[in-house]
Amino acid sequence: MKITVVYYSMTGSVYRLARAVAEGAESAGAEVRLRKVPELIPLEVIEANPSIKAAHELQQSVPDATLDDLVWADGIALGSPTRFGNMTAQLKNFLDQTGPLWAQGKLFGKAVGFFTGANTMHGGHESTILTMSTFAYHHGMVIVPASYAIPEVHSTRTGGSPYGPSELSGKGIELSEEEAAIARAFGRRLAEVAGKLAG
Ligand SMILES: Cc1cc2nc3c(=O)[nH]c(=O)nc-3n(C[C@H](O)[C@H](O)[C@H](O)COP(=O)(O)O)c2cc1C
Repeated sequence: MKITVVYYSMTGSVYRLARAVAEGAESAGAEVRLRKVPELIPLEVIEANPSIKAAHELQQSVPDATLDDLVWADGIALGSPTRFGNMTAQLKNFLDQTGPLWAQGKLFGKAVGFFTGANTMHGGHESTILTMSTFAYHHGMVIVPASYAIPEVHSTRTGGSPYGPSELSGKGIELSEEEAAIARAFGRRLAEVAGKLAG
């Protein structure tokens, strides 16, 4: 199976989640591409903000996503922090460039799932994943949720829902045990479903 994890992360939380999703896919035997979407924040703004600057340095070695990374994959995980209950402009900007792939049906039938991060418990984890998922309907992709089949979705008191992995930021830089477990299990499941669809 070939899995591409594409994400945006301004201050590093969703990056940690993306890595856990990638680890989960790898544990199922998938070949994984971890990719970040290009930044839209002006350089001088990044330079002036220590937490954004540190997060960018942390992610320096992650290659920028290209459309080919989507075409290459059997399954795709898309992640973004929550912005007013929706995805970031950075991820949207990347997805808005997939028009030519849509016109040629290049993503049709591939497995796809979504993950997010938010600063408050009820600030939009689910709404962000649901609004991101309209992308899948238009491309004819097969949505893979986290679902209650993952035990930690029942017990989490931080991020993670049946809709997909998420992280609750502002509680320290590390993912909670449940957030990490949900992200890894989701990555594994995405790889398994992608393998079946591709096979
Ligand atoms: C402009 C802006 C809008 C945001 N909107 C929300 C929101 O609607 N709900 C919420 O809980 N957090 C919101 N947040 C917080 C981020 O989603 C949250 O801190 C996230 O974990 C950051 O991920 P990152 O560290 O990967 O950049 C917002 C942050 C910014 C800068």
